[in-house]
Amino acid sequence: MARAIVFARHGAPEVLELAEVGDERPAAGEVRVRVEAAGLQPFDCALRRGDLARWMPLRLPSRLGNEFAGTVEEVGAGVHHVTAGDEVLGWANLVCHAEAAIVNACQLVSKPIAVSWDEAGVLSASGQTADTALEALAVEPGETVMVHAAAGGVGSFAVQLAVLRGATVIGTASEPNHQYLESLGAIPVAYGPGLEARVRRIAPRGIDAALDAAGGEALNASVGLVVDRTRIGTIADRAAAARLGIRALSTDRSVQRLGKLADLVARGSLRAVVSESFPLRDAVTAHRLVERRHVRGKLVVRPTA
Ligand SMILES: NC(=O)c1ccc[n+]([C@@H]2O[C@H](COP(=O)([O-])OP(=O)(O)OC[C@H]3O[C@@H](n4cnc5c(N)ncnc54)[C@H](OP(=O)(O)O)[C@@H]3O)[C@@H](O)[C@H]2O)c1
Repeated sequence: MARAIVFARHGAPEVLELAEVGDERPAAGEVRVRVEAAGLQPFDCALRRGDLARWMPLRLPSRLGNEFAGTVEEVGAGVHHVTAGDEVLGWANLVCHAEAAIVNACQLVSKPIAVSWDEAGVLSASGQTADTALEALAVEPGETVMVHAAAGGVGSFAVQLAVLRGATVIGTASEPNHQYLESLGAIPVAYGPGLEARVRRIAPRGIDAALDAAGGEALNASVGLVVDRTRIGTIADRAAAARLGIRALSTDRSVQRLGKLADLVARGSLRAVVSESFPLRDAVTAHRLVERRHVRGKLVVRPTA
């Protein structure tokens, strides 16, 4: 009998419960995975609160979690590229914060041995979002790129992936995260009033592109710093994107993109930073932490812990 985090009504983290959900079997094209690690992000909190109910109404009770790493337990009909016992990572909506998940067999890749469970469990959501965004903003070698909320889940990946593209990266974070940003390869700068002027001192010739994962004032600074508004993208503030004529970006997940990220981690070229992991029974604490908006890197749910 597998257990999962469920919620029967929208609301604060306390609506989350640990419940028995039965042993589900994979249908054709699906795989049952024993989940070892699954990232938790603001999107999960927004779904739980009901913020997205207009665009993405959920049938309650619902589960959460949209990325995972784990071991294949059973494959459905027509699935031939993985078999029971394979270690994999991938994405699947609203099922991953559970001991077992039924996932689409087309949405997973092999977990390299050199990648830990925690690292593998956080690559599919923030990692793919960061990579999608840098691709959309067409970041080139020799350019200077601004990443807002650079110490967070998406930001930590975006900084490193932009550096790998050959860019100079300026990242915003609070002071306690500045050394961390340097360790990822970014020039740190504090967010808050005066941001645009601080960045101009670091990059007097301006910024070529900006990726925003914070919203609000980060976007006003970006439009002051980047001449071409098609090279400013936000994943955090769609309303501001429409108002300012910049790009509202979202993620474009694929097994090619995920495989590339897993390979970079395996080769030691990309760090998947997990600051803390939580057993399922501590999901409420983990949600509270994400909602404070000061997680460094990622938080992970470890259903087998
Ligand atoms: N559209 C999409 O496809 C998509 C995908 C993923 C995420 N998102 C959205 O993108 C946003 C970021 O996601 P995430 O997972 O990266 O979040 P996160 O990990 O929860 O972000 C936490 C980080 O934000 C930083 N931060 C807080 N306030 C800030 C500010 N005013 N300016 C700059 N940094 C600030 C914190 O740094 P300090 O502790 O140093 O303050 C912390 O490291 C969320 O709104 C999320 O919903 C969208």
